[in-house]
Amino acid sequence: MSQQQEQWKSKIGFIFAAAGSAIGLGAIWKFPYVAGTGGGGAFFLVFLLFTLLLGWPLLIGEFTVGRKGQTDAISTYRKLAPNTNWAIIGKIGVFTNFLLLSFYSVVGGWIVLYLVEALTGRLSGLSQEAYGQRFGEVISNPTSTLLAQLIFILLTVIVVAQGVQKGIEKASKIMMPALFILFVILVIRSLTLDGAMEGVKFILVPDFTKLSSETISFALGQAFFTLSIGASVMVTYASYLPKTQNLPKSALSIIVMNIAIALLAGLAIFPGVFAFGLEPNAGPVLIFTVLPVVFDQLPFGFFFLISFLILFLFAALTSAFSMIEIIVATLTKNDQKKRKKYTWIIGLLIFIVGVPSCLSYGVMADYKIFDRIFFDLIDYLVSNILLPLGALLISIFISYKVPKNELFEEIRQGSSIGKVAFALWLFIIKYITPIAIIVVFLDAIGLLDW
Ligand code: PFF
Repeated sequence: MSQQQEQWKSKIGFIFAAAGSAIGLGAIWKFPYVAGTGGGGAFFLVFLLFTLLLGWPLLIGEFTVGRKGQTDAISTYRKLAPNTNWAIIGKIGVFTNFLLLSFYSVVGGWIVLYLVEALTGRLSGLSQEAYGQRFGEVISNPTSTLLAQLIFILLTVIVVAQGVQKGIEKASKIMMPALFILFVILVIRSLTLDGAMEGVKFILVPDFTKLSSETISFALGQAFFTLSIGASVMVTYASYLPKTQNLPKSALSIIVMNIAIALLAGLAIFPGVFAFGLEPNAGPVLIFTVLPVVFDQLPFGFFFLISFLILFLFAALTSAFSMIEIIVATLTKNDQKKRKKYTWIIGLLIFIVGVPSCLSYGVMADYKIFDRIFFDLIDYLVSNILLPLGALLISIFISYKVPKNELFEEIRQGSSIGKVAFALWLFIIKYITPIAIIVVFLDAIGLLDW
């Protein structure tokens, strides 16, 4: 059983750490390119609805389970549903986070490399095509990408090995506000470009003719991914909470911050895309090839590019902390003496598993499984299968395995949620979320024909 379970030092510290887990590559890197490909404003609107109507209740659900359990993810399910097999949700969570960090760290490494490129002056004064080419060269170099991935994992390990309070909470409390401030400056810069309004319209004004079942399913996946839902990360973070924290309100703050960052990312990128006549549907390369062009056109562009890359790296790191934390917490059973050693070993293992994902943009580009390169395969497995599966199981667990009165008791501690709001929350968790996940899942694997 768990020993000396650590706790967050302050309420706001928890919120920043959980927001730090949520806000990452999902909102800053993935959101703009998925929105760019999926029709801009219409995608954003659907994403917003899913985040508020399904993401918020699920986040409250993970928080409730976590704080009630007060222990690591696997033990929590065991504790709340003794003598059952529901600990499988925690096991899936550990597995998911392991795989997730193995490819997440690849993109983290790209940011590290871009930072080096920018600092050495190689990311300025090129044409859009030349930036595209440069990006291709950077991500296909096996030695530097592997090294950069290792650096990203090392940074994660160093912080998480310090523990919850001294490492994750402290780092997130500085990194998250810095991220917001810099993003706002960046957006002001972008919005003052000639022709910026086209880009603003693109991301804010919905054109419903662009909505397809595929866009809708992407929006749901994106909503869960950006909120770190489905992998018991939020269960783990909430296990370090005292009973005085207001769970629904904390979840709402995280949701709002997450939406705000996705919106800021959109507003930072699309004005530039339109002002310079670039394509919004460039895919995963979007942020890496568009922003350098935008920065080139701005006064103090070099300074903004460096600042942006640093905060982008911060955002990715605070998410990576949460992925490794759940694995460390479950394997050490919160025994602080084991934390350091386990964090290092897990970091190393994740790096090894991540090698093929890293190389799949270079020397292993021709190795395809199910017609996908390794990176895409792992991304697909995590984002489209494991996370929705985790979210589905958690909703079922909450609906049928935790007695209703105990759930109500837990949520009510620290909040003043009434019976009606509680019933509505449970209704969504019990019926709406599972149906939405199953529909989207069947659609994603091609079993639904709309
Ligand atoms: N929310 C993170 C992001 O948007 O980058 C990714 C993530 C972290 C997903 C942790 C799932 C998770 F368990």
